[in-house]
Amino acid sequence: MTAFRADAGKPTKTAVPTGGPGEGAAKFPADFLWGTATAAHQIEGAWNEDGKGESIWDRFVHTGGKIKGADTADVACDSYHRYREDIAIMRELNMRSCRFSIAWSRILPNGTGAVNPKGLDFYQRYVDALLAAGIRPSCTLYHWDLPQALQDRGGWPNRDMAGWFSDYAATIAKALGDRVTTFAMFNEPWVFCYCGYGMGWHAPGIADMRQYLKASHVTNLAQGDAFRAIRSFAPKAEIGGAYNMSPAAPATATAEDRAAAQTMHAAINVFFLEPALTGAYPKAFAPLEAMDFRPGDETRIRAALDWIGINYYNRQIVRAAPDDKVMGFRTEAAHAGPQTHLGWEVWPQGLYDIVTRISRYLYLPTETTENGCCYADSPGADGTVKDERRTAYYRAHLTQLARAISDGAPVRGYHAWSLLDNFEWCEGYSARFGLTWVDFRDQRRIIKDSGRWYGRTAAANAVVM
Ligand code: FCB
Repeated sequence: MTAFRADAGKPTKTAVPTGGPGEGAAKFPADFLWGTATAAHQIEGAWNEDGKGESIWDRFVHTGGKIKGADTADVACDSYHRYREDIAIMRELNMRSCRFSIAWSRILPNGTGAVNPKGLDFYQRYVDALLAAGIRPSCTLYHWDLPQALQDRGGWPNRDMAGWFSDYAATIAKALGDRVTTFAMFNEPWVFCYCGYGMGWHAPGIADMRQYLKASHVTNLAQGDAFRAIRSFAPKAEIGGAYNMSPAAPATATAEDRAAAQTMHAAINVFFLEPALTGAYPKAFAPLEAMDFRPGDETRIRAALDWIGINYYNRQIVRAAPDDKVMGFRTEAAHAGPQTHLGWEVWPQGLYDIVTRISRYLYLPTETTENGCCYADSPGADGTVKDERRTAYYRAHLTQLARAISDGAPVRGYHAWSLLDNFEWCEGYSARFGLTWVDFRDQRRIIKDSGRWYGRTAAANAVVM
């Protein structure tokens, strides 16, 4: 377990305020992929246009009582219609990589069966526009918006999901594999299994720990099957995933809490990684029977991932919880550092800690697929958004990332979450994570000061003042 430094909340380097990289400023390797990340459900809108089927998030937001302010993602940032404007912003910010996700129910409205050509056409146009702008498309196949028709057939706990997902993955690989070279199969598989099926906080709103465990194993089977499907149709593609990871700090120095922190690492950070790379679940968390693990599954869950995406937001304090028969631990939010608008602790060193820990454990190229913060700053009288706290957040995290790279971690890219303020799941539009401010009444976009700063940092390939 890496020790946490007391000064971790502060940027570790200072530089002269020239606007360019100061002496000693954190620098990045040549060809570093500066990017932004978004997800279909959070930005596209057009929830039922051009033949798109209903997703579990469409159903969830329309159910009522689930989302702050009764917000829906029916329109969101209207990126389905305004994607060219979004890509122009990426260009303006000197971005080289765009992490986006595909809405499965735009492609296959019922999850399986006939392809909706208008859905495919949208993503083809999107990818072509990115390539024309000199931006690498990094495509995530699943960012939580399961076609509702598949939830009606049991959703992720149903083993048939593995086959349905890999058929969908094959459809995308066939349609886009000639121009998309980077794929992530899942975004944060732990989050959608645990929050969606175990706790009921997210769609489809089921609170049943048995379903969470089954969904997790089926997702690992789906990852293996889809990996092989993509490989066969897009042999040159680099296939990986984006995993939510938090360094685990034991609540106390007791053996129980230290063991609990290891269990948390196994159950959350590497639970969808180790099965792919080794064919086995991490020993510290492997409830095989409850997950309905069957003979032969050890082969199916394998996937020789080409790269790994790390989504990092905060660290977790972990305490042993013997009364919790499924997890055996509890996590608590940490509050030593400053907090963002959502109460999440700002802890830049956590990015260094998790990236170096994962890099020591498997030497594969990694990218930061998400990192960012929520602050409510809005345009002032002069029309600009002076969100200094967001800039400070990125500056501190990127400084830690540069340190991890100089310590040998093979990190090749970084994606800020997010390009735009967007529909933040259960928080609706109340939580603004964007580098660009969006007026949700008329879709006006204003690049925030943090966005301008990020653009200068990308151009300099170094953390600028
Ligand atoms: C991550 C999600 C992303 C966004 C950020 C704030 O867990 O992957 O969609 O909501 O949190």
